Parts: sequence; structure tokens; C-alpha cells
Amino acid sequence: MTTKKFCFAGKETEVIVDWDILTGIGQKIAEYDPYRIVIVTDTNVRKSYGEFVKKEIESQGIECLLLDFHPGEAQKAREVKDRILDEMLGFATADSGVVAVGGGIVLDVAGYAACEYFREKLKFFAVPTTLMAAHDAAIGAKNALNSRFAKHSFGVYYSPEFVFVDVKTLQTLSQREIRNGLVESIKHAMAQDPVFLEYLLSLPSDLKLSKEELLKVVNRTIDLKLECMKEDEYEMFNPVLHLGHTLGHQIEFHSNFLLTHGEALSLGIRAEAVLANKLDMLSSDDVARTFSIFERIGAPSKLPNASDELFDKIIEGLKYDNKRTRRGTPFFLLKRFGDPPIAVYEDEIPKEYIRQCLTEIS
Ligand SMILES: NC(=O)c1ccc[n+]([C@@H]2O[C@H](COP(=O)([O-])OP(=O)(O)OC[C@H]3O[C@@H](n4cnc5c(N)ncnc54)[C@H](O)[C@@H]3O)[C@@H](O)[C@H]2O)c1
Ligand SMILES: [Zn+2]
Repeated sequence: MTTKKFCFAGKETEVIVDWDILTGIGQKIAEYDPYRIVIVTDTNVRKSYGEFVKKEIESQGIECLLLDFHPGEAQKAREVKDRILDEMLGFATADSGVVAVGGGIVLDVAGYAACEYFREKLKFFAVPTTLMAAHDAAIGAKNALNSRFAKHSFGVYYSPEFVFVDVKTLQTLSQREIRNGLVESIKHAMAQDPVFLEYLLSLPSDLKLSKEELLKVVNRTIDLKLECMKEDEYEMFNPVLHLGHTLGHQIEFHSNFLLTHGEALSLGIRAEAVLANKLDMLSSDDVARTFSIFERIGAPSKLPNASDELFDKIIEGLKYDNKRTRRGTPFFLLKRFGDPPIAVYEDEIPKEYIRQCLTEIS
């Protein structure tokens, strides 16, 4: 078992990573002595792991309420969070807790609800079951919801008591969901760890990862994210965390969420590599290398439904980015592999460059 930790606002969160440990979740929760537990999950994960976690917690004599919502990014909305809050009323007391069991979407909605309910009194516990959630969404205090204009327009910081990663649960993920999570690993590796990048590119091309491979990917990616958070627990200013995300979030949102977060991010990283090259930051060789990295893992090579109208929406959408300042929206651009990206604001970029970058990935 590996135990890691991160700190947010003086509070420490334990991150437990191991194989086949889910039967231990009840005992682990019981250590915190919650009166009752609300489990939040999605309708897919409910059957595979939600019911199981409920049984384990109930075996410790703790009463549970299992709540779910449909899977999909469209559910990361205030209406869904409000429904969960309403359903908690009358059951969850001030000395109760919320356990999120699922992917990044479940974690965001559940963490947000836990934060708002009775004004931050409930303990929050994260049990991520996707690669994306295990090594990224669950690591940190951020919880966000989307608006009808953009991703992550609204957010709260609410750190879990612990993050419980049973890597064995990732075995039931589809190839697409493994790829989804791997893009965040690649993001970190490109900026922080060239050796890990080579390792990621040596993984089997069908992305059927062994126990050892899954454990290595999860552990190393978490360690790289924790390095970033040591300098910036708010995950606001550390440039590595945002690499590819400015255009990635726009691409994801304007695909009407037909692309996963990781798929959209891979296109965002490509487009922003082109932008960095146009600004004489990243070499043409490194742009080509960026493209080939995502080809290697089978990420989408083209922006789906590319058109002038889509480009307009993406460019217009930049004004809803939650990192926007009077200087416009920042892009976090690489100069070279292995170095942290650099923030470049819209006011430093010729307007037509963004459209040209989108054309390059179409
Ligand atoms: N708060 C943060 O810091 C942060 C960081 C990274 C990503 N995110 C967010 O996380 C979200 C993406 O998370 P995600 O990729 O986990 O998506 P997700 O939660 O939609 O999960 C993907 C799919 O996998 C299914 N699933 C979950 N666990 C499974 C398992 N073990 N086996 C089989 N299927 C399983 C889910 O039901 C869902 O259909 C995005 O909204 C992204 O913005 C947030
Ligand atoms: Zn991301």
C-alpha cells in the first residue's frame, strides 16, 4: 500500500493507493465515526461499486443512503447538485459524511454538495473509480460545476478526509476511459518527467494495462500532481496543471460533451503546441512530437465537426474561462518538454492565431 498526502488550508488529506482494497472501505470510514453516510454515485457505478461500498459501510453499523444520477458531463450542473442536496435533507445530520464513489463527475457533484450542506459541516470521502478521477480529479480540494456557457464556471474548495484508490476497480474501464485518464498523465509527463513520458508511450497500444502498469501510472501521476500542489494547493497558478486546458475545455464544452475530458484535452494540448510554435516558444520538432504522442495512444486526431461556426464558438467561449483577467484568457504554453509551461495572455497573441491553431487540428 502507498500512502501519500496533500494539504489544503492547513488540513491534511491521506491518499491511499493499492490493489483490491475496497473491502476495507467500511472500516476506514468508521475510523472517522460518522453518524450516517450519504453515498453519491452514478447509475453505472451504483451497480458495480456503489452497492458494494454501501454494504461495507453498513457492516460497520453505519446507516447509509445511496443516491445516484445519470452518467455524463451534462450532469455536472447546479440542478443535479441541488437535487442531491434536497435528497440528503432529513437524513444527513451535522455529524454525518458524504462518500463519492465514481469518476470525476461524481466527485465534483458530491464534493460540491458536501461543502454546501449545513455549511461545510459534513466530512467528505473520495473513492475514485476511473483513471481520470484516481490520479487527477480526486487529488486536491477543487470541486466545480458547469454553467450553460462553459465548464467550471462555479466552484468550491472542499478537501476530502481521505482519497481511497482501489486500482483494481480501474480494470473494468473501457479502452476509451483508460485513454481518457492517460492524457492527464501525459500532460504531467510532458512538463515534468521525460522518463515517465517514455514509459507511457511504451504501454500496450490496446491500452489493456496490467496490475503493475495501472499501479505505476496512477502512483506516478499522483506524485507529479502532488509536486505541483506543493507550490499551489489552490491549483490556480501552477502552469503544469493548466497545460492544454484553455482550448481543451472549450473543445470539450462545444463538442456538447461528445468528447471526454481527456480526448478534448489531447486536442487542446495539440492546438496549444501549435500556438506556442507560432509565438516562437516550442520548436516545430516538438510540435510534431506532441502530435505523435497522442496518435500513439489513439486519441482523436481531428477536431470533430470542425467548421468556422465551431471556431467562432470556441473563440467566443474564451470569455467565459474562469482564469480570465483584464488581459484576456491565459494559455499555458510549453517552451520545451520537461519544463513548466508559461502563461501567455490573449492580449499578447495576434487574434487570428487561435483560429489558425484550430485549423491545424481539423
Ligand atoms: N476537480 C478537478 O480537479 C478535476 C480534475 C480532473 C478532471 N475533472 C473532471 O472530471 C470529469 C471527468 O471525469 P471522468 O473521466 O472520471 O468521467 P466520469 O465521471 O463521467 O466517468 C466516466 C465513465 O466511466 C464510468 N465508470 C466509472 N467508474 C467505472 C469503472 N470502474 N468501470 C467502468 N466504468 C466506470 C462512469 O459511469 C462514466 O460513464 C470532467 O468533468 C473533468 O472536468 C476534475
Ligand atoms: Zn484536466
